[in-house]
Amino acid sequence: MKKEFLDLGKQPIANKFLNKGEFNNEFLFDLKAVFDDETKLVSLKEFVAPEMMFNDEYAYHASMSDTMKTHFKSLSDRLQSEFNPVNVLEIGSNDGIFIRHFNPDTTIAVEPCGNFADMTNDMEYKTYPEFWTTKLSTLIKQEHGTMDLIYAANCICHIHDLDDTFTAVRNLLSEDGIFVFEDPSLLRMMERGSYDQLYDEHAHIFSVTALGNLLEKNGLEIFRVDNLSVHGGSNRIYAGLKSKRITELSVSTNLMDENNFGLDRFETYEVFSDRVKKSKKDLVSMLKSLKLEGKKVIAYGAASKATTVFNYCGIDKSLIAYITDTTPSKVGKYQPGTHIPIISPEEGFGDTVDVAYLGAWNFRTEIMNKEISYLSNGGKFITHVPEVMIFS
Ligand code: TYD
Repeated sequence: MKKEFLDLGKQPIANKFLNKGEFNNEFLFDLKAVFDDETKLVSLKEFVAPEMMFNDEYAYHASMSDTMKTHFKSLSDRLQSEFNPVNVLEIGSNDGIFIRHFNPDTTIAVEPCGNFADMTNDMEYKTYPEFWTTKLSTLIKQEHGTMDLIYAANCICHIHDLDDTFTAVRNLLSEDGIFVFEDPSLLRMMERGSYDQLYDEHAHIFSVTALGNLLEKNGLEIFRVDNLSVHGGSNRIYAGLKSKRITELSVSTNLMDENNFGLDRFETYEVFSDRVKKSKKDLVSMLKSLKLEGKKVIAYGAASKATTVFNYCGIDKSLIAYITDTTPSKVGKYQPGTHIPIISPEEGFGDTVDVAYLGAWNFRTEIMNKEISYLSNGGKFITHVPEVMIFS
């Protein structure tokens, strides 16, 4: 049975950055989270139609971050040297940040956002501009044979029907093939109070516990888990066909950590929900005090996560003057829901800013290293993770 534990209010499509004339009739939905006490899966109560989120205007551009470029380069080196895959497929290939390290003759991309599918096609990778389904995997198998490596980053948690997703993977994997995928970790979200991992695209936030149950149901088995620091704490899951590989210690360690935290019990989620309410109160009162002191407060990074926080907390232009972001397609637009303007860091970040709310808190180290002169001139940042705080 699915039980609701969190209500983040009315929320927009987090990556649908708006032009000035688009504020009226913006699509909003009820962002609520539920826990399934059978599979232990945490999901959104109401899913948003995939075509509304993943289309030719999709804004999230993975290569905007040096951290992510290094992350995918070192992973592709590791996968190639350890597993030596020939046929490779990526589900949700975005701008090709991962597949660019693989041979275009034997590597296939699946990407429903046409703007990104065009980019990988231009890079000579056969790209299917479609959603991942069993129907598509059957077609790919007919055209290209089975795959030795199926990879997905920050994509599987977007897909509503996980049984179909995993069946599609199982059908297309070669006998010794591996399915490697990484998504935000439920345990890290719960430990860090980072409720902003929840937004329209994140239909599920995965625990290893829930994934083990769902993969097994569909003929797959986890044999390794890597805990990653990216995207605010993620897990990389390695799975193969059932009973094909020795299960490594990392699987039982992760399951034990999740069990010790109580991820299998509804009460844990009720405690989390109280923590989220407190986070909202603390953030709003901090921003109001700064405003009373006459400080110039902006936000750094128009991340989807910041969309969740600002819409949930009712934060608008009266508290945050604007948001800076390095992504060209976001600059000149407005944050969904709150309609706070987004400008480039060149235009909006510097010594006139007193305090910057860290929208991209998951890139804290990268940003702190980059903004040394802002910090040494007295600039400060705010984060809500793990608690609302101001720091310099
Ligand atoms: P990200 O955390 O990658 O994604 P999301 O929450 O949408 O999944 O988003 C980070 C945003 O922050 C992205 O739009 C790029 C921006 N950004 C900057 O503006 N400056 C920076 O130095 C970094 C690292 C990111």
